[in-house]
Amino acid sequence: MVQIRMRKLFFLYIAISTVAFIWFYSSCGFPECKEKEIDHLIKKYKARNKELDKKISDLSQQLQGCQKNVMSSGRTEFSHSPTIYMVTPTHTHPEQKANLVRLSHTLLHVKNIHWIVVEDSVSKTVLVSKFLQSSGVKNTHLAALTPHEIKMKYNDPTWLKPKGVLQRNAAIQWIRENVKPNRDKGVVYFADDDNTYSLEIFQEMRSTKKVTVWPVGLVGGLRYEKPVVKDGKVTGWFTYWKPNRPFPMDMAGFAVNVNLFFKFPEARFSNEVPRGFLESTILEQLNVKMEDLEPRAVNCSKVLVWHTRTEKTKLKNEQLMIKQHGQGSDTNIEV
Ligand code: UGA
Ligand code: MN
Repeated sequence: MVQIRMRKLFFLYIAISTVAFIWFYSSCGFPECKEKEIDHLIKKYKARNKELDKKISDLSQQLQGCQKNVMSSGRTEFSHSPTIYMVTPTHTHPEQKANLVRLSHTLLHVKNIHWIVVEDSVSKTVLVSKFLQSSGVKNTHLAALTPHEIKMKYNDPTWLKPKGVLQRNAAIQWIRENVKPNRDKGVVYFADDDNTYSLEIFQEMRSTKKVTVWPVGLVGGLRYEKPVVKDGKVTGWFTYWKPNRPFPMDMAGFAVNVNLFFKFPEARFSNEVPRGFLESTILEQLNVKMEDLEPRAVNCSKVLVWHTRTEKTKLKNEQLMIKQHGQGSDTNIEV
């Protein structure tokens, strides 16, 4: 009896063990299969890791690019950094609005800029007023007419008479009346409406202590004109045209600390000076010496502003339209 019971118990034990063994391996797999599966998973995750590493490196490269863009746009400047008072003379002609739109779109990327736009006209025109109101750029709008005797005609050669003189003077006067030299830190830049300005040039000039200088591209019959710099100091000029001028450089090639206009309250531009002497005259009146000049744009080795000119558009078919069809283009449509 006891023997039969023992045998039963033994069979029961074998049966339970077999079921447990089958259940264990069916749920967990056999050791080799498990290893293969783990290997497969490791490979899979390694590949995924590699993909993610590449993605991280791509994104950090993109981020670096974005940071560079933000830096060069001058938008990282703090709000208490000196204001750039940018003085732009402008006059009525077919390409005026195109020039202003293009320039304003550059300025929209520059922080702390105050655009002083001075029209060469008896009073402010509707075109420029409307344009400035919607430009999005902080601005002051002025008008100062060039007298008839010294006013350029549309088809005069570009060098015949000085341009923008009374307009720049009106802006200087506005600055003297509205800027507080001890309170407002500022830099004055005389920037004509048809040049091309990189965003970097505004960053370069913002730290002007007295007068900063840099190369100007496409000017004076050369690829560029520039101050010659030795050991961080300006020692001369790379200029072909009238190199003996005290400061033989274009208006776009320098910026002045606003304080100088208060220190020398009589300093202004003049229509009486010989051709090409506008820049030299104002700097001499501000008592600037060559040793005061602070070279910028990597010791004047980079061109960051270009003396481009807008081509005069031929509008001869306007007259032919009137002749042939009785009317030319609609003058209500602003161009
Ligand atoms: C070059 C220099 O870059 C100017 O800074 C300088 O004033 C000029 O020579 C000069 O000889 O007086 P350029 O390209 O020949 O410039 O001159 P523009 O660009 O035609 O005129 C300079 C500025 O004066 C422009 O902003 C323009 O809109 C304005 N201007 C021009 C007037 O306000 N009135 C005019 O009758 C003509
Ligand atoms: Mn010009």
